[in-house]
Amino acid sequence: MRLAFAASWVIAVAAPAVLHAEEPAENAQQARARADALVAKMTLEEKLSLVHGLFPPMAAGKTDQELIPSAGHIDGIPRLGIPTVRESDASLGVANQVEQRKGDVATALPSGLATAASFDPEIAHAGGAMIGAEARAKRFNVLLAGGVNLTRDPWNGRNFEYLGEDPLLAGEMAGAAISGVQSNHIVSTIKHFALNSQETGRMVLDARIDEAALRMSDLLAFEIGIERGNPASVMCAYNQVNGDYACESKHLLTDILKTDWGYPGWVMSDWGAVHSTVKAANAGLDQESGQELDKQIYFGAPLKAAVADGKVREARLDDMVARYLTGLISSGAFDHPVPAKAQKIDYAAHAEVARRAAEAGIVLLKNEGDLLPLSGVKKIAVIGGHADVGVLSGGGSSQVRSVGGAPIEIPLGSGAASSFARITYHASSPLDALRKAMPGIQITFVDQRDVEGAKKAAAEADVAIVFAVQWTTEAQDAVNLSLPYHQDDLISAVAAAQPHTIAVLETGGPVTMPWIDKVPAVVEAWYPGQRGGEAIADILTGKANPSGRLPITFPVSASQAPRPEPVGLDKLNSLEAQAAANPADASDYQLKSYPVDYVEGANVGYRWYEQQREKPLFPFGHGLSYTSFAYRNAQASGGKVPSVTFDVVNTGKRKGAVVPQLYVKRDGSDSPMRLAAFQRVTLKPGETRKVTLTAEPRIVADYDTALPGWRIAGGTYTLALANDAEDRSRTFTVTLESATMKP
Ligand code: BGC
Repeated sequence: MRLAFAASWVIAVAAPAVLHAEEPAENAQQARARADALVAKMTLEEKLSLVHGLFPPMAAGKTDQELIPSAGHIDGIPRLGIPTVRESDASLGVANQVEQRKGDVATALPSGLATAASFDPEIAHAGGAMIGAEARAKRFNVLLAGGVNLTRDPWNGRNFEYLGEDPLLAGEMAGAAISGVQSNHIVSTIKHFALNSQETGRMVLDARIDEAALRMSDLLAFEIGIERGNPASVMCAYNQVNGDYACESKHLLTDILKTDWGYPGWVMSDWGAVHSTVKAANAGLDQESGQELDKQIYFGAPLKAAVADGKVREARLDDMVARYLTGLISSGAFDHPVPAKAQKIDYAAHAEVARRAAEAGIVLLKNEGDLLPLSGVKKIAVIGGHADVGVLSGGGSSQVRSVGGAPIEIPLGSGAASSFARITYHASSPLDALRKAMPGIQITFVDQRDVEGAKKAAAEADVAIVFAVQWTTEAQDAVNLSLPYHQDDLISAVAAAQPHTIAVLETGGPVTMPWIDKVPAVVEAWYPGQRGGEAIADILTGKANPSGRLPITFPVSASQAPRPEPVGLDKLNSLEAQAAANPADASDYQLKSYPVDYVEGANVGYRWYEQQREKPLFPFGHGLSYTSFAYRNAQASGGKVPSVTFDVVNTGKRKGAVVPQLYVKRDGSDSPMRLAAFQRVTLKPGETRKVTLTAEPRIVADYDTALPGWRIAGGTYTLALANDAEDRSRTFTVTLESATMKP
């Protein structure tokens, strides 16, 4: 069948048969031509069958094809060689939430935020390529990955899945991860388009922001991610944006994504994010995902009726299908079907990918008196965080059942996440890894509940290492930025007993640190994934030199952030309490739509803190090393785009990586400085490398809705060659020519 199809296609469209995911710009047109030729052969029923997908947990009996328990399934059309699509979540590995597929494990990367902290697109690409390889071996060909929503709020429950607060960093890292996935000839999405910036009220809230600010922040992250990664699909978000649901926003889906950006692939909805047939289809939604989760199957019978009475033109339905096929063809999923049977996976090799990512993303926040790396110690007290059994992971659809299993798995009693999230640890014990790395050293462990025991063990040891955890999950926001379970008190108590105390944090994002002045060393390990314990031990012992940089600002307190708490949380809590008290009428107590005003506009994260003149606890871009670096002979230039050329020198005694960052600001504007370029550089002791950082032009520009497009105003600009968003120790003035760029 496939051969017959291929032959007829060759006659119809004279183009090469094998299309590579890495060069879709040229092949998008060829892919579209093939897609159009296929659509021309389809019946109306066949077309309709491709624009809505099943949710396997609720779809038993709806297809004769094998349903793999996962997020999504769309039957293929064998007579036309159109493959069956099997969709899995895959932000951090091939997901297997609440162990839908009994015993099916996969390699778990560290959180997205940890990968972002590497500031290294190659790390992101390697992670994506690994996930894609496992997915293909498990017979998935569409991965729900590429989460690139900017961190607008430090307490967002899904920050761990995303790539931080900066549009350039997040876009570059998302693009690299996506192209890694798609190098396996399968599809990756980029999600959630757009402004799904908090989990509280995510199904109903109306995110409000002005157009220019949106283009210069969240949309820019998507735009860069799409350019770099060529995802075959874009997933639209649950929330509303400026009054329309994201999955029925013509402005977002058609005017911006498909017209301004010329996006050739298909828009799939998030699961349960569709609210209409005609409005959504005409706005640019191409496929309804997880149809059983919507109030009705909007893109089934109602779409057929809408086409029949002309409310949705058949040409639009053809376009929906052609976009879907274009994505499958250009990614290679069409021409390289997944194997008929699950294949063996080299988990040992993939664990190394996870370990490298964890090591590159761990951030050494503080290291007074060079307490780290550990040396000359004989007795260590390891305290808390279940460090004796494993490392924490984030909850929700991205949850991977990792190789080695889940030594701790705690179901939730209530709340929006309770149906699909459990507090889950990966079997990678930092305690075991430390013992292995430091034979002959006495290492004791005390559980976090035993505060007196912890104090005693700390006092008797040469060094205390306190592990502190903050679990976060999709569908809920962190209620505040404090470490839960009295861990702040635990850290303070241990630090009072032992001056050489190191805090190791496994958190979804920023937390407050009321004990910061009492603790000489702090390591942010994020959710470090399936080899997190080993990676933490490597960093603590100095086998690995810390090189992560914060992709997100750590505020002193939540009150410094644009919004001190999740908008609508009070309302949600009160409705949940009323529903619990009146179970028979629970459906009367549903959250209704409400606005969330993103008053910070494009000044997300570090830009907000600079604009407000607030000094955070740790700035964006910050991270220490066990070696030292210098930037020498820097020369800046202007003209069309600014750049700085300089020598980076490792002036210390260990091999290490540094991330020089270029920030830019137009003189006289009231806009804060923006990250315009960065590069991770690894150097041996004494080694020098010449580096040029060239600004991304859209970071230098402002978006002008009247133009419409990007505008660089001619004049002088200040550049900072910096180690973090606050560092202004090397500044330059350059003159730029005025220029405009298409939207
Ligand atoms: C999430 C998506 C995910 C989808 C399918 C939704 O709840 O927002 O990120 O891909 O479920 O599991």
